[in-house]
Amino acid sequence: MSRKVIIAGNWKMNKNAAEGVALVEALKAKSAAFNDVEIVVCPPFTTIGAVVEAAAGSNIGVGAQNIHWAANGAFTGEISADMLVTSGVKYVIIGHSERRQYFGETDETVNKRLAAALAAGLIPIVCIGELLEEREAGKTEEVLSTQIRGGLANVSAEDAARIVIAYEPVWAIGTGKTATPEMAQAAHAFIRAELAAMFGAETAEAMRIQYGGSMKPANARELVAQKDIDGGLIGGAALDAESFLSLISEAMGC
Ligand code: 13P
Repeated sequence: MSRKVIIAGNWKMNKNAAEGVALVEALKAKSAAFNDVEIVVCPPFTTIGAVVEAAAGSNIGVGAQNIHWAANGAFTGEISADMLVTSGVKYVIIGHSERRQYFGETDETVNKRLAAALAAGLIPIVCIGELLEEREAGKTEEVLSTQIRGGLANVSAEDAARIVIAYEPVWAIGTGKTATPEMAQAAHAFIRAELAAMFGAETAEAMRIQYGGSMKPANARELVAQKDIDGGLIGGAALDAESFLSLISEAMGC
C-alpha cells in the first residue's frame, strides 16, 4: 500500500493576508515541480480567503487551524465547517498541542470537531503527542493510545481512511529538539498498530501519519524515509518559502 506523502505548513498565529499571499506566491512559483507530494498551508482564519485565491490553480491546498462542531449559533470566536468549506478550505488541523495546552482542548472536543470535519468532507489532521514528563515517565504509548482512542471514537473505517494523524511530541515543538528518526518511527509504528486495532489493518495501512516538531530541511529526508512516517506538519520552517520548499524537496529525497 503506497501512501502519498503530505507536507503541511502550520502557520500558527503568523502572517497577515498580504504576508500570506506573498508566501504562497513564492511557493507557487516552484511547487509544480513536486507532484508526488500533497502540499498544504494552514494560515490563520483571517488570512484564509486571500491565500485560497492566491493558491488557486496550483498544487497547494489550504487548511484551517481549528473548527467548531456546531453548524452555527452563539459560539463567539468560533468558525464552523460550512464557513471553512465555502471559503475554499480542504484540510483542518484538530487538537494541536497548543490548543490542548492553552485553550482547554481535550480528546472529547477533538472528537466532536473531528466528526464535524468528516461530515463536511474536509481532510482532518488530528494532532497527538506526549509531553516531556510523560516520555520520561515511560508513558508515551499510554498517552498516544488514550488520545487516539478518545479523539477518533465512533469514527467509521471508511471515514478513518481520510484522517491524517500528526504525531507531534510536545517537547520537540519549537524547541529545536527533534525526535530521532528511530524514536519517531517507533511512535508511528505504535500509532499505526492502534489504528489497526480500531479500524482494521487495511484502513490503518492507508492512513497517513505525519511527524511534527522541529522538522526542517536538514532532518526531513531521514524522518520521511522511515517506514511509517508519511510526511510532516511544519511550524517554523514553513514560514519562509525557501525553507519550506527545501524541506519538501529533502522529504521527497530529491
Ligand atoms: P515547529 O516546526 O516550529 O517545531 O512546530 C511544529 C508544529 O507544532 C506544527 O504543528
